Amino acid sequence: MTRHHFSFMGIAALMATASFAAGPATAAEISFAAHLSSYAEADFNKVVEAYTAETGNTVKLVPMPNSASDQFGQYRLWLAAGNKDVDLYQIDVSWAPQMADQLVDMREAGKHLVATMFPTIVDTQIVDGRLVGLPMWTDAPALYYRSDLLEKYGVEVPKTWDELSAAAKTIQDGERAEGNPDFWGFVWQGNAYEGLTCNALEWVKSYGGGEIVETDGTIDIFNDNAVAALNEAASWVGTISPPGVLTYEEEESRGVWQVGNAAFMRNWTYAYTLADAEGSPIKGKFATAPLPSGGPDDKPAASLGGWNIAVSKYSEHQEAAIEFALFMAGWEAQKDRAMHQANLPTIIDLYDDPDVAEAAAIVPKWKDVVLNAVARPSAPTKTKYNEVSSKFYSAVHETLAGNGSAAENLEVLQIELEDVKGSAW
Ligand code: GLC
Repeated sequence: MTRHHFSFMGIAALMATASFAAGPATAAEISFAAHLSSYAEADFNKVVEAYTAETGNTVKLVPMPNSASDQFGQYRLWLAAGNKDVDLYQIDVSWAPQMADQLVDMREAGKHLVATMFPTIVDTQIVDGRLVGLPMWTDAPALYYRSDLLEKYGVEVPKTWDELSAAAKTIQDGERAEGNPDFWGFVWQGNAYEGLTCNALEWVKSYGGGEIVETDGTIDIFNDNAVAALNEAASWVGTISPPGVLTYEEEESRGVWQVGNAAFMRNWTYAYTLADAEGSPIKGKFATAPLPSGGPDDKPAASLGGWNIAVSKYSEHQEAAIEFALFMAGWEAQKDRAMHQANLPTIIDLYDDPDVAEAAAIVPKWKDVVLNAVARPSAPTKTKYNEVSSKFYSAVHETLAGNGSAAENLEVLQIELEDVKGSAW
């Protein structure tokens, strides 16, 4: 079942052989727009090789910037221009409602594969009954902590943000006193981009301050709990977190953490296998926990992330592109990415796979975290999600930078979002 694409791959392979005999003219070169980190190259090349061997088609990568916000901006321009040069797009979990009209429906082609996946994650890619993206991996963050240093300073794994602030300060003071002036308590993603929306949604939600826009479309972001959450986060900048955290994305925070210069880090699961690799200065010295909550009675919150593969309706090679999408979202590719990059599978049985558990211990442990993760408000805000997110992360970034108080900035944000909404989303 998980390898259903092999049934029609057999036919594709025959066709590829036939076309090869007749000359290579019918083999397609398809292009795929995605950000590919160096640590992801080997797994990607393996999928491309398997696809080419089966179909005779080749794949060209169109490299994208790391930042999800920058990628989205570029995709929007290309799609608006009806770009035929890009056949497939790697799309973030929250983009489907905004891009759906320009993407191909893969309900029929993908039906066996998506039947093996978490239905709630597949649902994020269904817009008006059309399946516009095939989930390749899902995502949820962890609180990474230095288990050796928590033990050294007699500190418990923090359960609330206040406990985290105190623990981070204790360890930072101690490590600096012992001669490491570059040591920081807590690193995270504070640049003004989509990643800050994820971080700040976690603070706000875990303080009981809602989800920016609620699932029924109401906006209630100017509330006391959200203000308290942003005040807490603003207090970290320049104290337990470096002032430069306001320009950090995922890889900048991992850089500080992985060389051994931070006690805690908020990051997605991909950071696990990298920090655990041979030669990593912190190998064997760290562990993960769910993110903290606001008060002891609040629940922690993890933003739901994840990446999907979508076929452009302007593509002139739609069939070949759909086949590639099935490879990229298929069982083998998901297993490789889970083992080598700790990317959380969307295929349910991979959480019980012994090879995955052995190679990336965080993956089976994070099944419940991902299933309880909070979605960014892309479903209720429909085609306006990106505008909502960018107004939210801008207001948060201003607050963190000390330009206006949390209360002032959230009050303005509330009015701006009401305006974006108009009479209905
Ligand atoms: C991760 C998540 C993605 C999110 C991005 C923000 O890549 O998987 O959903 O938008 O981080 O930086």
